[in-house]
Amino acid sequence: MEKFVISGGKRLCGEVEISGAKNAAVAIISATILAEGVCRLENIPNVRDVRILMQILDEMGAKVRNINKNTWEIDTSHIKSTVVSNEMTRHLRASYYFLGALLARFKHAKVGMPGGCNFGVRPIDQHIKGFEALGASVTTGNAMVEVKAKEIVGNSVYFDMVSVGATVNVMLAAVKAKGLTVIENAAKEPHIVDLANFLNLMGADVRGAGTDIIKIRGVDRLHGCQYSIIPDQIEAGTYMVAAAATNGDVLIKNVIPKHLDSISAKLIECGAQIEEFDDCIRVSSHGRLNRCHVKTMPHPGFPTDMQPQMAVLLSVAEGTSILSESVWDNRFRYVDQLIRMGALIQVEGKAAIIEGVPQLKGSPIRADDLRAGAAMVIAGLIAQGETTIEDIHHIDRGYEDMIEKLQALGADIKRCEFEPAETKAVSIVG
Ligand code: EPU
Repeated sequence: MEKFVISGGKRLCGEVEISGAKNAAVAIISATILAEGVCRLENIPNVRDVRILMQILDEMGAKVRNINKNTWEIDTSHIKSTVVSNEMTRHLRASYYFLGALLARFKHAKVGMPGGCNFGVRPIDQHIKGFEALGASVTTGNAMVEVKAKEIVGNSVYFDMVSVGATVNVMLAAVKAKGLTVIENAAKEPHIVDLANFLNLMGADVRGAGTDIIKIRGVDRLHGCQYSIIPDQIEAGTYMVAAAATNGDVLIKNVIPKHLDSISAKLIECGAQIEEFDDCIRVSSHGRLNRCHVKTMPHPGFPTDMQPQMAVLLSVAEGTSILSESVWDNRFRYVDQLIRMGALIQVEGKAAIIEGVPQLKGSPIRADDLRAGAAMVIAGLIAQGETTIEDIHHIDRGYEDMIEKLQALGADIKRCEFEPAETKAVSIVG
């Protein structure tokens, strides 16, 4: 197994290049199922979630070519199977996008229940509601979801809550439907806009992405195209917080500063300095940062995927901060790890009350999920002494070359092999 070993206390200084957005890439890769022809995708992050999706497409009969580290060509013309086994889908949440894409193309899909980070219950009722509104019938059982339709017909879909996944899935299902689909209370995240741009380049008619009403007029055919994925808002935000938390000075390159507004605003409130340029952003800080209150919300609010990283920064800020989570039911599991490092945090329902301490101390900790893992890295970077982080496979799902990027900024971090102390008996839970 592998772990990260960090010797904390170094300021991060220099430049870092942000990779393509994982959550845009996973939607767009699934959307290639709709194209008649080859899609060439550039700026695809080289992360584990992407590699798993490519493997699923390959096993379904698509021609998948890795042109270079961040460029892939995908030709889905020869896909025959409309079934994706639970064995493949349990590794990542985004596997549910195969439902919408396969339904649009074959009017049938049977896909294993999606996996991904554990934030408590992750229902898909809004996805199902959307498919049913378009004329599909949906059945679930044996850890599989099956959708089928004689015909996909455009309709109005009103979501009860803002859901990125349900918005993407209904967009995918509706682009080849008969007539007009109107999604109300749609998600507005940057990756929704990126998917719409990609679909339109393939010949779709999607309007309004980035607002809460998206209108999709179905077309008969979609063709292949060449597309470059947007920069990763959350990877950029993670380096912004790491720069500020370590009292560093980092130029974060290849970003869309507008996507980072909510993160910049909170860092400025804490006393960090932010300078924006066309496609990069500089973050620096001096001395101890101040407390601030943060509430996560769908875009353009403060992203839930930046909540654990921000908790680390606030854990050493001056004063008491309240961090409220309004997107997920249970996204504070990582707090126990920070407490082991000396943080003073109390979780009450969907809020964490963080009393800033002067210093965290290096400890053996683990990554509970992808973003919590990134937060543990930041904790290790600011802590006094050595921190080891286990379960780093979560981090590899979504951060390209994290070790190399941090080393180039002056961090003392390495990836090491280790033998687990004891092999625990495997228990099967229902
Ligand atoms: N929800 C429902 N029913 C549904 C769908 C969602 O109740 O049918 C609820 C969820 O339980 C949650 C809220 O709605 O409380 C928002 O969930 P959403 O559907 O927006 O989340 P998702 O699509 O499963 C994506 C990202 C997550 C990110 C969330 C919120 C991808 C692949 N994943 O998940 O990213 O936290 O949106 O922004 O795009 C990550 O990258 O680390 C990550 C977890």
